[in-house]
Order: sequence, then structure tokens, then C-alpha cells
Amino acid sequence: MNIVVFTGAGISAESGLSTFRDSDGLWEKYSVEEICTHEAWERNPQLCVDFYNARRRDVLKAQPNAAHIAIARLQQALPDTHIITQNIDDLHERAGAKEVVHLHGEIKLLRSSINETATVPLQGWEQHYGDRHPDGSLLRPYIVFFGEGVPYFPLACDLASQADMMIVVGTSLNVYPAASLLQYTKENTPIYLIDPGTPAMGPYSKRITHIQQKATEGVPALIDKILNSQL
Ligand code: APR
Repeated sequence: MNIVVFTGAGISAESGLSTFRDSDGLWEKYSVEEICTHEAWERNPQLCVDFYNARRRDVLKAQPNAAHIAIARLQQALPDTHIITQNIDDLHERAGAKEVVHLHGEIKLLRSSINETATVPLQGWEQHYGDRHPDGSLLRPYIVFFGEGVPYFPLACDLASQADMMIVVGTSLNVYPAASLLQYTKENTPIYLIDPGTPAMGPYSKRITHIQQKATEGVPALIDKILNSQL
């Protein structure tokens, strides 16, 4: 069975990492325009670096939760399980997941300013603005800012198109093109969505089984059913 797991900030909420659009979310406290757009990076790179240094420090303190661990267990049991995330944290990997597709970048890497996929690892939490990539350009956070391309989206669409089942966890489905991933699944592919809130399911709501629970409750229970072939 070919399974695609598609996650957003909500899966890391119970690990203590803020989501973006919940009432206490990051975009309630910070202005997207000032720190997470291509223009913001051009206009005030230090502000962007400081913001992502703070996010990186939070990620280093966080631990994977039962939802991350259950998804890694699913992939170990069924190797044709592909994990696609909008998250920049590495909690899927730290739970044991392999080959995670990060659509919006990774907080523990930096990238070249002239090549969107040329990354280098960062030791510790702090980027020093002004350091350079081996290609000579200024290093920047490896984050897809609003208004920039999503280089791994075609790969994600290809994986979604082959899925026999899609599991969506903790995303408001507000941001495109990521949110359009659901439309790349086959008509008869069941979609299970785990979220205590009400994401923007749009035209897929008829195809979605909405498990209105927190990730650490809903994900392990669903994965137990899959592994006990009750689904
Ligand atoms: N368990 C599961 N889901 C949860 C939990 C939880 N404990 N807590 C909150 N959620 C859900 C919310 O109900 C909401 O649907 O997580 C979702 C969070 O939505 P957003 O904050 O919009 O996060 P996300 O969908 O990942 O944002 C997408 O927007 O700003 C950009 O690049 C950023 O990748 C991000 C993208």
C-alpha cells in the first residue's frame, strides 16, 4: 500500500512549537511582510535572520511527540510511506522518519542566495548574517519565503498522485501551492485528516474523513488501525 502523509505546523504543536494561524500563532505576533517574504529578506535580512535564529532555538529544545513517532513507525512497517511536510522543524526525522520532503525549507540548514536548493548544515542555533556560501553568495535561512518558488512541489505532486491513501495532519490548508496537494490524489484515494480545528477542506470535504482530534491522539489511533489492517 502506497501512503502519503502530509503534515503542517499542528503536528508539532504538542511538542511546544507554535503554529502560524491559531489564536496564539506566529502570524498573530509577527508580521509576515516583515520577516517571511522575498522583499523582507532583501529589505531587512538581519530581522529575518534573528526571527529564524529564535525559531531554530525553539526547535532544538523541542522533542518529537507521539504523532511523529507513530508516523515513523508506519513508515518502518510499510516502506512505501512517503512523508511530505510544510514544517521546517526536524521532528519527523528525529522520530526516525526517512526521506522527508520539506516543501517550505528546513530550519537546520542554510542556503545560497543564488541557488535555492544549494544548502549547508548549520551547527547550533545561531546564523551569523554575513557568512557566505561556498558559491560566494550570502548565506540565508533555508526557508521558502512567501513569493518564492517551492522547488520540491513537483516531487510532492508525483508522490500524491501514486498514493492509495493520504493522511493529512495539522494544517489549515491555507497556503498554496502546498494545500493543493490533495487534488493530485486519485479520485478513489481515501483522505484521513487529523485536526481538532476545521481546515479549509474545500471541494475535497466529501472525500475526507475528518478525525477531529489532536495529533497525539488521532494519529497513533489511525496508524494502529492501518497496521492492524482494519482500514
Ligand atoms: N494537533 C493537530 N492539529 C493541530 C493541533 C494539534 N495539537 N493544534 C493546532 N492544530 C491545527 C490547527 O487547527 C490548524 O488547522 O494545525 C493547523 C495549523 O495551521 P497553520 O498555523 O496555518 O499552519 P500550516 O497549515 O502548517 O501553515 C502552512 O504557512 O506560514 C506558512 O510556511 C508556513 O508552512 C507554513 C504554511
